[in-house]
Amino acid sequence: MSEHRIGIIMNGVTGRMGTNQHLLRSILAIREQGGVRCGDRMIIPEPVLTGRNEEKLRVLAERCGVENYTTDLDSVLADDAYPVFFDASGTPYRVGFLERAIAAGKDIYCEKPTATSYGAALAIAEKAEAAGVKNGTVQDKLWLPGIQKFRALCKEGFFGEILSVRGEFGYWVYPGHDPDRPAQRPSWNYRKEDGGGIIIDMHCHWRYVIDNLFGRITRVFSHASTHIPERIDEQGNPYSCSADDAAYAIFATEKGVVCQFNSSWCVRVRRDELFTMQVDGTEGSATVGLRKCIVQSRADTPTPVWNPDIESPIDFFEDWQEVRPGEEFDNAFKTQWEIFLRHVVADEPFPWTLREGAKGVQLAELSWQSIEEGCWVEVPE
Ligand SMILES: NC(=O)c1ccc[n+]([C@@H]2O[C@H](COP(=O)([O-])OP(=O)(O)OC[C@H]3O[C@@H](n4cnc5c(N)ncnc54)[C@H](O)[C@@H]3O)[C@@H](O)[C@H]2O)c1
Repeated sequence: MSEHRIGIIMNGVTGRMGTNQHLLRSILAIREQGGVRCGDRMIIPEPVLTGRNEEKLRVLAERCGVENYTTDLDSVLADDAYPVFFDASGTPYRVGFLERAIAAGKDIYCEKPTATSYGAALAIAEKAEAAGVKNGTVQDKLWLPGIQKFRALCKEGFFGEILSVRGEFGYWVYPGHDPDRPAQRPSWNYRKEDGGGIIIDMHCHWRYVIDNLFGRITRVFSHASTHIPERIDEQGNPYSCSADDAAYAIFATEKGVVCQFNSSWCVRVRRDELFTMQVDGTEGSATVGLRKCIVQSRADTPTPVWNPDIESPIDFFEDWQEVRPGEEFDNAFKTQWEIFLRHVVADEPFPWTLREGAKGVQLAELSWQSIEEGCWVEVPE
């Protein structure tokens, strides 16, 4: 087995996603397992960490045992030892970084959203295509254990015709006024001018989840709120929330599936996981979460009768079965990284391109159009 070492510029990597999901759980985990198998080769990623703050980079590099880091992005963009550029910096900076990396001939991989407007997202995808560089966008939810289990059941025809989907995403994000309970998400998430807002964040995910599982989205109807008007930032200062912190949307697909998704940072969780989707089909139903997929077949479906005057004779949580409980899956981000690395080295297929990523930004933009116009909006093909 020969080794194929590949240099990866990891930009904006001192942030939450960059550090946890991409550096620790993906690139370093791949190195620890000896690389990614690709035919008779093992692909071994060689990261260089880049960002603005040398001290933060040094601390992260030391903590993770990574040798190379720099604040001089141009120097590594000019270095052929690093053919891949990855970006997990703040959303408003993404396009600028990708443009520089494309101009330097790098293959591109990046977090979502790929831009803050559909025009910019499409333009950067076209730039990458014109330059002939390989490119990809993170679409991690496709490799969540719960979703993988659900897709396998779908293929077997367990659900019959899928009719509707109800997605619930969210949890209580502390506003930060109580010093004992600081906010557990970055403050930019609640400022539109910094790329924040739950629609641009989550509708990017719902686009590829729904397109891949339930058919291409053809129409959207949406509502957004800023339920909590003031939060406390990382420095302890109050700030006005200019971005939406909850979104209530219906997406219709080409297959006629009605997908209703609530996304909120202002709800308390009383469900199995932070994200769950109830899928109802003619032959069976499922609640699909990050890790679990719990199903009820047509044969196991009880016969409820409406009568609020008595305790329900039916326990509605019975007659559901967890599918493949306890089965271990790799981290979703790592799985997509492995496919991307095989795409770069051996040209294996990678359909989750910047152009696909742009569709997520498009859905966010059309959701806003729906909110502003108060009506359904078509999602063009
Ligand atoms: N795939 C997912 O599920 C998922 C989840 C959360 C966030 N994200 C996306 O990941 C990105 C980062 O989000 P996060 O939650 O890690 O935020 P974060 O604020 O923790 O991290 C952003 C990082 O970018 C750095 N940065 C900002 N401006 C920069 C600049 N000009 N040059 C270099 N670095 C710069 C910051 O210092 C920080 O390290 C966002 O685009 C967000 O939408 C994706």
